[in-house]
Amino acid sequence: MAIYYTQEDRIFTLETARTTYQMKVDDYGFLLHLYYGGKVGGNMDYLLTYSDRGFSGNPYDAGLDRTYSMDVLPQECPGLGTGDFRNSAVVVRNGDGSECCDLRYAGHEVKPGKYALKGLPAVFAGEQEAQTLEILLEDPVSKVRVRLLYGVLEKEDMITRAAVIENAGQGAVCVEKAASACLDFVTGEYDLLTFCGRHAMERNLQRTKLGQGTFRIGSRRGTSSHQHNPAVILAERGTGEDAGGCYGMVFVYSGNFLCEAERDQYGQARVLMGLQEELFHYPLEGGESLVVPETILGYTDRGFGELSRMFHRCIRNHICRGKYAAGNRPVLLNSWEASYFDFTGETICSLAEEAAALGIDMVVMDDGWFGKRDDDNSGLGDWVVNEEKLGCSLGDMIRRINALGVKFGIWIEPEMVSEDSELYRKHPDWALQVPGRPPVRGRNQLVLDFSRRDVREYIFDRICAVLDQGNIEYVKWDMNRSITDVYSAANCQGRVLYDYMIGVYDFLEKLTARYPDLLIEGCSGGGGRFDAGMLYYTPQIWCSDNTDAADRLRIQYGTSFFYPACAVGSHVSAVPNHQTGRETSLHTRGAVAMAGTFGYELDPGKLTEEEKDQIRQQVKLYKEYASLIQTGDYYRLSDPFRDACGAWAFVSQDRSRVLFTAVATEIHGNMPVSYVRLKGLNPEAVYEDTESGRKYYGSALMRAGLPIPAGMGEYRAYQAEFTVVG
Ligand code: GLA
Repeated sequence: MAIYYTQEDRIFTLETARTTYQMKVDDYGFLLHLYYGGKVGGNMDYLLTYSDRGFSGNPYDAGLDRTYSMDVLPQECPGLGTGDFRNSAVVVRNGDGSECCDLRYAGHEVKPGKYALKGLPAVFAGEQEAQTLEILLEDPVSKVRVRLLYGVLEKEDMITRAAVIENAGQGAVCVEKAASACLDFVTGEYDLLTFCGRHAMERNLQRTKLGQGTFRIGSRRGTSSHQHNPAVILAERGTGEDAGGCYGMVFVYSGNFLCEAERDQYGQARVLMGLQEELFHYPLEGGESLVVPETILGYTDRGFGELSRMFHRCIRNHICRGKYAAGNRPVLLNSWEASYFDFTGETICSLAEEAAALGIDMVVMDDGWFGKRDDDNSGLGDWVVNEEKLGCSLGDMIRRINALGVKFGIWIEPEMVSEDSELYRKHPDWALQVPGRPPVRGRNQLVLDFSRRDVREYIFDRICAVLDQGNIEYVKWDMNRSITDVYSAANCQGRVLYDYMIGVYDFLEKLTARYPDLLIEGCSGGGGRFDAGMLYYTPQIWCSDNTDAADRLRIQYGTSFFYPACAVGSHVSAVPNHQTGRETSLHTRGAVAMAGTFGYELDPGKLTEEEKDQIRQQVKLYKEYASLIQTGDYYRLSDPFRDACGAWAFVSQDRSRVLFTAVATEIHGNMPVSYVRLKGLNPEAVYEDTESGRKYYGSALMRAGLPIPAGMGEYRAYQAEFTVVG
């Protein structure tokens, strides 16, 4: 049992292994938030205080009591128009044009298992692993209902929240804003940690002190975006990697989002996570409803490292699905940085021959195999194999590749259309475009209206017709521009971007149902749609178009705060690096790429025999570590933004095996030595460095650390495996 309700005081308590979440239906029927944090006992309603606050309105039913105000009280689902002038979780425009949503308790239900959301990705769990609390709130005048859903994963220490907004009245209303999670705090000093960046430099950690006012991040690009990730941490002021209280909030959605963190006039904090309010007006006729995507919440008082591991476990075990969710992933050789658009079937087959000789499992034919596609200005939408370019049929090519003992994968970008394509010439209205205005181009391509079923079905059939031509075991699903021109010729305008995302999910759901063994890797110009929503369908996502090992230290560091290594597409590429021009050693590139789903993004034909030997060793090594990387606990051991090295370790669940990696990020004359302390080991156990045979107590490695051997040159990598021998 994880959910308790006490009738006398109308208090709901959600319990996980180490946290308590409590709320209360008060005398007026408002659902007040009482507490979320480390485990506590008893009723927390003593935290609520009441005093006459100037210019904070009082609900009519409080009579002449001026000490009762929604502007001050902590709430679960604050609506606009009740006298709460902070940021609202729900804004509804009623039929009469008023914007008021006064939500009062109307009932609740506790159910076994974890709720699912129609058409949307969400955490899943077995009947024994989770419980669901549904609380119904209703506006007595408009009859707008909000069904708050709470999923409690007791063992995982996770609570999920989602909401369904229903119009139980007669006339039409319009949802103008909807958040699935609101966390109110009556006290505390907080920082907000966000993960921001740009194309080819995603998810840089930013820590912002929460001062009076609102700090907001989000996306209005149609994807979760390179610029801000839909995952944030609210941390108590002194919290660090290994200690301190912190709350994680992960939005399970891949489209426009909004996260608002606010400190109000009395120093109280509120954090909202939900749908972006711009470009969003969701009309609901009587009887219709809107599902607000889920937010996953986690709390620990053990710092960011522990919070990350909690989210890694949750995403690995309760978001990622399918055969590969728990299984080792194939080592890939991707054709993109090897040959870009310039290839034939022979090129791909010779990559496969190289792959076979190097022990690489799979060759992936990236962009350029279909329609007229010799550069990125044409062909998208024409999902017909260009046999003339390949010089053979796809089926024949795959058979040749498979005969070498190599698997085959392919790149697609289903959501897009080039103006220079057969599809666009036939169906220009299938692209999102505002009538009478020239569209905004992005990579010279337009976005298909995936809010339309007919458009999706057409593309689905074309893609399946390709996938059915041979033994295709992997698909890289790309999405290479932000969405503008938000107008659908066949949809109601305010819902286009939400329905677009529902359409993408519907497509992916059908694809995974039809090809259950297919491994899909998400991608959006690298990590432009790297979120828990996509991970529900694609258990790995290409982390960044930037394959430079030095930059990847930072990108993968930021990514690791929420997303497990098994979700992080990470490849060794050629030097000088194609994005930065930087040269790093093959050893360093390998060590960095091993903190993810490993592969290569280069032409082995251009390498020396020594380099090929080294790759052969690298692949062998990766395969030895694969399940440790996939299922082990991940520890950040340094901050590559501040420290002279980037360091991390994977530790097996039983703490008997450790893969430690450090990469020097600075080089100076007469350099001081970097000592890195390991974490998560058994202090009493004796660990042996499997290469040198040197033995250390776990306590020594954790308390005194390891000196990173000095050497010449920047970005030297040091990798060591430790196993328990006593
Ligand atoms: C995006 C991807 C790359 C590659 C190209 C192909 O930029 O992130 O990895 O697939 O598209 O056009």
